[in-house]
Amino acid sequence: MSLPQPCPTTPSPAEPLDLAAAAALEGVRGANPLVGAVISGPDGAVLAVGHHRGRGAPHAEADALTRWRAARAQDRALAAVDPAACTMHVTLEPCDHTGTTGPCSLAILDAGLGAVRYAVADATGAEGGGAARLARAGVRVTGPTGHAASAALTDRWRHVRDAGRPWVTAHLAQSLDGQAAAADGTSRWITGPASRAHAHEVRARVDAIVVGTGTVAADDPRLTARDAVGADLTVQPVPVIQGRRDLPAGAALADRADLIHVRSHDPHAVLATLAAHPGPWPHGGSRPGHLLIEGGPHVLGAWLAAGLVDEVFAYTAPLLLGPGLPAVAGLPVGTLAEGLRWAPDPSEGGPVRTLGDDVLFHLAPTAKD
Ligand SMILES: NC(=O)c1ccc[n+]([C@@H]2O[C@H](COP(=O)([O-])OP(=O)(O)OC[C@H]3O[C@@H](n4cnc5c(N)ncnc54)[C@H](OP(=O)(O)O)[C@@H]3O)[C@@H](O)[C@H]2O)c1
Repeated sequence: MSLPQPCPTTPSPAEPLDLAAAAALEGVRGANPLVGAVISGPDGAVLAVGHHRGRGAPHAEADALTRWRAARAQDRALAAVDPAACTMHVTLEPCDHTGTTGPCSLAILDAGLGAVRYAVADATGAEGGGAARLARAGVRVTGPTGHAASAALTDRWRHVRDAGRPWVTAHLAQSLDGQAAAADGTSRWITGPASRAHAHEVRARVDAIVVGTGTVAADDPRLTARDAVGADLTVQPVPVIQGRRDLPAGAALADRADLIHVRSHDPHAVLATLAAHPGPWPHGGSRPGHLLIEGGPHVLGAWLAAGLVDEVFAYTAPLLLGPGLPAVAGLPVGTLAEGLRWAPDPSEGGPVRTLGDDVLFHLAPTAKD
């Protein structure tokens, strides 16, 4: 494993939480919140910046501490700075529980930092509560400080957590004229290799992938997460089929012992089936934290119409298909004002990226009034 590059000491920003929030946006959305952390010295100079990279990865505080230690190992002046005179600024209250990583409260105590400032309280029961432990141990704790950019990082994640359902990501691969398939149903491949590689990265994050019976019949997908050379990754999402029809004989998914088939058109029935499933899910735990809707158009339309999609990755290829199959079907939109408008998602490299010849839009639902 390569050591993280030490973070060069930088002058004090007006608000270290601004820097922490910007770092957090480099992470990925999903079952875990976006979190960023900054360690500052006694003069306010920034000594290290860290962020959380998604489930199973170190939390932002642990990432910042690793970078801070690496910087101290290489710089005598930094090594001479008393940790007790340093402050951890973090966008979300440090956790106090052991999941796939250890409690951040203990990591901060172990490092001997004298002060912690956090922007937003973590009210997730056993997973929150790190501030109280730190304060009991004599750390100067300030928070929640109420920082708008930090709150915005976790607003959607909190909403999903409070609703007791998984984070739902939707994919669609479309032509420039908005088709998900040509008139004869062929859709492989509308987008190029770079888009498909990104789509596999997203598959690797999730617990389960939902497709409709129409997509199974047309494409016979395997729904596995694969690496750059096409090999299956060790951890695989559970395939979920939505629709009343049986699988076609010999379908690739028929061999999957973990296949879940929900014979309903209602996305809530899919969520209820997944909630009742005992697990364990591929990324651990007894409930799916992250679900991917891969289409096709009717299933995607149903999830969008139900207001159950938390982010969209729309891969758009410079290709015109003329009469074909619109990427989203069945939305009850009769006039412009009824359209579902989406907002740019600033995380993961920003809302618009080029992937080879394609353009990737990363979108968030617009806030409801
Ligand atoms: N470009 C892309 O990103 C992409 C992705 C996936 C698929 N595709 C293409 O899409 C085409 C298939 O389109 P499709 O619309 O048939 O795919 P689909 O949405 O996967 O399947 C539609 C079928 O799913 C069932 N279903 C489940 N929930 C439904 C709901 N709420 N509303 C309506 N039907 C529901 C129905 O079948 P039952 O009778 O079984 O209930 C329906 O006929 C293929 O050509 C495929 O290549 C493209």
